[in-house]
Amino acid sequence: MTHRLESFFKPKTIAVVGASKNTTKIGHAALKNILISDYECKVYPINPHEKEILGVKCYKKVSDVPSDIDLVLISVPANIVPQIMRNCAQKKVKNVIIISSGFSEIGNYELEEELAKIIEKSNMRVLGPNVMGYKNASNGLDASFAYGNARKGNLSLISQSGALGIGMIYLANNEFVGISKIIGVGNKIDIDDDDLIDYFAQDPDTKVIGLYIEAVKDGKAFMNSIKKCHKPVLVVKAGISKAGARATASHTGSMAGSDKIYEAAIKQAGGIRCRDIIELFDMARALAGQPPAQGNRIGIISNGGGLGILLTDACEANGLTVPKLSKKTYNKIDKILPDLVRPNNPVDVVGDAGFYRYEASTRALLEDPNIDGIIVSSVHGGYARPQEFTGAILKMVRERKLHEEYKKPILAAWVGGKEFEDLVWDLKSAGVPIYPSSWRIARSMMALYLEGQRIKRETKRKN
Ligand code: ACO
Repeated sequence: MTHRLESFFKPKTIAVVGASKNTTKIGHAALKNILISDYECKVYPINPHEKEILGVKCYKKVSDVPSDIDLVLISVPANIVPQIMRNCAQKKVKNVIIISSGFSEIGNYELEEELAKIIEKSNMRVLGPNVMGYKNASNGLDASFAYGNARKGNLSLISQSGALGIGMIYLANNEFVGISKIIGVGNKIDIDDDDLIDYFAQDPDTKVIGLYIEAVKDGKAFMNSIKKCHKPVLVVKAGISKAGARATASHTGSMAGSDKIYEAAIKQAGGIRCRDIIELFDMARALAGQPPAQGNRIGIISNGGGLGILLTDACEANGLTVPKLSKKTYNKIDKILPDLVRPNNPVDVVGDAGFYRYEASTRALLEDPNIDGIIVSSVHGGYARPQEFTGAILKMVRERKLHEEYKKPILAAWVGGKEFEDLVWDLKSAGVPIYPSSWRIARSMMALYLEGQRIKRETKRKN
């Protein structure tokens, strides 16, 4: 059965109320973004004072449009939004995005209540108010007023903050994290986080779901949607501190609530809590490109003893273990290493390690049934060969057969400067999960372990 929000994300007809010729206005940007989208649909600007805008015939009211309308974007001052919404309901519009601000987020509860009553009596699904809209990088449609395109990928993002949502697009591009859809939910008068999680759960273009939330309106529905979802759900919850909760109330007019309750609820539902946006992207990159870890036993390879210890500590601090090597694996790695060192976990492949030592020791850990995930790392010390390290990583991460045979995640970490960073850039652009810090990589491995656990629970429930 087609999901109710299919016409919201793939509309055939769109009207923009408050479309303007004035290039500084949001209604102009919203219309232009739809027109320049790499997406086929019929577009209707709505403005009582214009005959055409950007070369497209203009209508005075939504109800004047000659065809059915799948999606309406509203960008007029808050006080006239109710009359536009009544007109949309009369026209039997399927979906609406209210960009306009000036509702509960500034204490104007009555006006928002008026909208809620109109929505209740209609069949419309409504996003906002106080939102940027959405960008659908999977089909090319930009139904937002924000400038810029997201790199196409399979992370779908839901943001309660519009500005942060827009910032996330640029940051994701910078981090080479591909987006399927990014959507702002603002005051959540109707379309809520749980509706979107449900939609993304069945969306073939979405592999990982990420949320920035300040508060949820219906805790039970939120938890149920995560519980039902068979994809990883990453959650950044803001407003943890007292001052943060105060800032939340004045941002979206919502109550941040007890952090302990959120923490427990997200965990119980099977979601993964992230500390900030960059951590969400770190985890998303790992989850989108690597198999989940079947257990928490991690094998670590490094060409520097110090980095190996830092990685070990970070893993152990995040619910992972770094077990001793089995006799068999010890013997395999012993043959690879120079005479002056003996294998351990973390495996020290020594400062001058080249392609062969990195690759062969990783293979030995892949073959070890006591290891569930592998971290391969390099520090740009005096004799180090960063190019051979990145070459080995690229080969192993890309080798499909390796993944199919062992089903173990491989993540990479590096410590160095500009020369190393240029090589890492190439890896990131190819989708390789590589991280510049022991903490960030350990958290990402933890996410792969938690996803492995979630899948096990799901399989057990089904059988
Ligand atoms: N139907 C259609 N168009 C109408 C109607 C109507 N009934 N009445 C007026 N208009 C036209 C206006 O004439 C104007 O067009 P014009 O430029 O040709 O004259 C156009 O609609 C827009 O109306 P304005 O009164 O000029 O309003 P303006 O564009 O200045 O502001 C807006 C409207 C953008 C919705 C503003 O009220 C607002 O809420 N701004 C904040 C939006 C925002 O930030 N939202 C949150 C996003 S998330 C984030 O933080 C990024």
